[in-house]
Amino acid sequence: MIPKECKRLAEVDFPIATVSKHAAREKSIRHGHPSTLHLWWARRPLAACRAMLLALLLPDPCDERCPAEFKKQACDLLPRVVGTIKPKDEDLRQALLKFIGDFANWDLSSDRTYLEVSRGLVKAAHGEEAPLVVDPFAGGGSIPLEALRLGCEAFASDLNPVACLILKVLLEDIPRHGPALADELRRVGAEIKAAAEKELAELYPPDPDGARPIAYLWARTVRCESSGCGAEIPLVRSFWLCKKANRKRALRVVVSDGSVDPTDPSDRSDLKSSSPRATTTCPRAR
Ligand SMILES: C[S@@+](CC[C@H](N)C(=O)[O-])C[C@H]1O[C@@H](n2cnc3c(N)ncnc32)[C@H](O)[C@@H]1O
Repeated sequence: MIPKECKRLAEVDFPIATVSKHAAREKSIRHGHPSTLHLWWARRPLAACRAMLLALLLPDPCDERCPAEFKKQACDLLPRVVGTIKPKDEDLRQALLKFIGDFANWDLSSDRTYLEVSRGLVKAAHGEEAPLVVDPFAGGGSIPLEALRLGCEAFASDLNPVACLILKVLLEDIPRHGPALADELRRVGAEIKAAAEKELAELYPPDPDGARPIAYLWARTVRCESSGCGAEIPLVRSFWLCKKANRKRALRVVVSDGSVDPTDPSDRSDLKSSSPRATTTCPRAR
């Protein structure tokens, strides 16, 4: 057990640059990341939470009050992931910081060796009784989740009931039921989707080509008063849905006597000259 007076690593140094790099990269991970379970606005990157928790849980080996037993166990554990460690306390400090920085990488967060080393270090510092990490403002649960990963006990709470539900699923249900929970969720999700499709089918009739619409845009319309025209014109500011260079999508207005795309300048003259008798707003992505 480390004495209370012994400085923690976070008080003397922290691998900020490496952890920031991993935290920034984590934002773009979309599959299998806990943040995709449910949106939470103030969610902290897991990389930063994991690294900061370790730096707060582990003692600084350069502090004279740091137990020799911790240093010995750390020197036994760390070579599994950071290579040989030279004998000075400063070298052990650098090895611990390197481990913390490397382990902030999401790709290593479930690596068996890294998990064993991190839990072994926490045990070497705190003994057999796992330390308790309390986060009373836990939000999306990044801190308690990482505390569990490091072998700690975790307590999480939040004022917001949505956050509480996220915390319950993330910290209790998923660890308790594992992949079986995902299978059950897929099964129930498929049932709900099938039931919703059946109930909503009449509101989404298929197009003549059999394609099933997924959404409608609502617009007021005016009827063209030009003699012999009577076309119904949708009052929308733009027909563009997406203007990304590699993914241009726009709605096409289908006119009864031919198709005209009013968003395409080359079609504008057709629109003027065609004197359509009727216009339908038939949203078709092209
Ligand atoms: C900055 S967020 C925490 C983010 C969290 N660390 C994460 O990674 O998702 C602060 C949280 O405190 C909660 N909160 C604010 N006032 C509170 C209170 N009086 N009691 C409990 N929770 C509170 C909010 O609902 C919010 O989820």
